[in-house]
Amino acid sequence: MLKVGIFGVGHLGKFHLNNWKEIKDVEIVGFYDPEDSIANEVVEKYKIKRFLNDEELIESCDAVDIIAPTNFHFDLCKKAIRKGKHVFVEKPLANSMTEAKELVNLVKESNIKLQVGHVERFNPAYLSIQELELAPMFIEVHRLAQFNPRGTEVSVILDLMIHDIDIILSIVKSEVKNISANGVAVMTETPDIASVRIEFNNGCVANLTSSRISMKKMRKMRLFQKDAYIGMDFLNKKTEIIKLKTENDIDSFSFDIDTVVGKKTIAISNPQVPEINAIKMELQKFCEAIINNTPTVVSEVDGLRAMDVAHLILQKIKHNTISN
Ligand SMILES: NC(=O)c1ccc[n+]([C@@H]2O[C@H](COP(=O)([O-])OP(=O)(O)OC[C@H]3O[C@@H](n4cnc5c(N)ncnc54)[C@H](O)[C@@H]3O)[C@@H](O)[C@H]2O)c1
Repeated sequence: MLKVGIFGVGHLGKFHLNNWKEIKDVEIVGFYDPEDSIANEVVEKYKIKRFLNDEELIESCDAVDIIAPTNFHFDLCKKAIRKGKHVFVEKPLANSMTEAKELVNLVKESNIKLQVGHVERFNPAYLSIQELELAPMFIEVHRLAQFNPRGTEVSVILDLMIHDIDIILSIVKSEVKNISANGVAVMTETPDIASVRIEFNNGCVANLTSSRISMKKMRKMRLFQKDAYIGMDFLNKKTEIIKLKTENDIDSFSFDIDTVVGKKTIAISNPQVPEINAIKMELQKFCEAIINNTPTVVSEVDGLRAMDVAHLILQKIKHNTISN
């Protein structure tokens, strides 16, 4: 049995609790949440022990799951790693680059596994394209959400865009060359909407738009490469591929187009999207990494890389705001 302690049982924490209960060979030792009203509700509903001291809960388990607000991630991670406990921590890894780098060093000196909650890596739409050869030259992303005060302790970049940054860094195997960015703080003290262009050394360009003050939701990523267009809808969990037809494209709908260089056949397909619960899968993969002593799917280094790009974006936005 893997003994797990949960830190933070707010909105997302309750989803984690429900999923932990369904994972085999896991015992929920208890939870820590300083907010009495939330904690009492959880004790009543889930019949699990509330710890009033975070260190005591850390001592009592093998692994911690940190779903507290971002400004507490560093402190809780550090305490757990120093006590040799495995860590699952929600995204973003930490609040600042200094904190994130210290966590990466602490993990390096320890014998523990750390996974960051970049849950879109387990989105069925993203999982459905894993077999494709991805070499995008142009990426277009829209992640729009309605306003919700939850998560606004950090900017829209660290709250929402970081999901897309992580996915892009997992797809584009090249270093970031240049970033242009602009953003506006409308409802909070930090940018609530932002438009970003990331250029990579291999020539790939990614344009990202994120907003947490939109009237309706959208989470789409479109990849354009020499032989294909790949559209992922993270919200509706659908994928569409439009490409020049090859002999392997037997199941796709196709049609011909006359071009100046002759007839081209276009194939349109919607790959099978697996029916999976992304949160349950990320927690299961974390357990497997501990049991099998294998790397976590989204490591502390991945978490740091996503934060690094996010902070470069924030610096650009700050610079543009000051110069205006
Ligand atoms: N992966 C995702 O898609 C995703 C989605 C939403 C939130 N998140 C992340 O999850 C975290 C929590 O977000 P939420 O929406 O559940 O927020 P929330 O405000 O609903 O819940 C946070 C909970 O943590 C508790 N808390 C405060 N200080 C604490 C501490 N020191 N130790 C333990 N618990 C503490 C609060 O009382 C509250 O109950 C944030 O880091 C956020 O970025 C990730």
